[in-house]
Amino acid sequence: MSERTGWSRAQRRLHWAVALLVPLTLGLGFLMVELPLRPLAPKFLAYQFHKSFGVVVFVLVAWRLLLRWRRGRPAEDAGLPGWQRRAAGVVHGVLYGLLLAVPVLGYLVAASAPGQVPTMVFLLLPVPHVVGPDEARFVLLRVVHLWTAVGLVTLALGHALMALRHHAQGRPVLRAMWRG
Ligand code: HEM
Repeated sequence: MSERTGWSRAQRRLHWAVALLVPLTLGLGFLMVELPLRPLAPKFLAYQFHKSFGVVVFVLVAWRLLLRWRRGRPAEDAGLPGWQRRAAGVVHGVLYGLLLAVPVLGYLVAASAPGQVPTMVFLLLPVPHVVGPDEARFVLLRVVHLWTAVGLVTLALGHALMALRHHAQGRPVLRAMWRG
């Protein structure tokens, strides 16, 4: 992996697209489970769009990781204490892990659901369920999906607050992700 002087335009766009989509998908997740079963259409659509946004998050994050592997990232701020740079590295690693794990867990929840509602990305692209329905697995995975999603958003909030703090201290981290 090489070091660059700034984030590429594609890397910046992917970062902000994921930052927008994750809270949207989370909010839709909480809303859809609360919607009544009748009328069915709003609940069905909310589930399909939740799953679609989640699939898009997975694809965009995989793309971001590919770009990062191929193009690298800008050098870290040498003015930061070593422990802060190490902590940021760990947080970023965990964020990437959760950004991939939460959609995969969501997919497994959908596939394990006894109700077997098909997964259709934006109502157009069917995603086959590679595992069959299983009540016990469904009950366990929906709890794991929920709490990893909450963990992801909490960590992302901490990450955003740290970026704002660095920005207020005059460090260029936020500017670098905004304008390159
Ligand atoms: C960034 C991505 C995602 C986030 C943040 C997220 C978040 C959530 C949240 C907060 C809930 C509500 C849980 C509850 O209150 O019980 C939920 C439920 C659910 N999610 Fe996701 N999700 C994501 C991706 C996905 C994906 C990709 C799929 C499937 C392809 C999916 C399938 C589901 C299903 C089926 C439920 C409902 C479980 C039930 O009926 O209790 N999610 N998700």
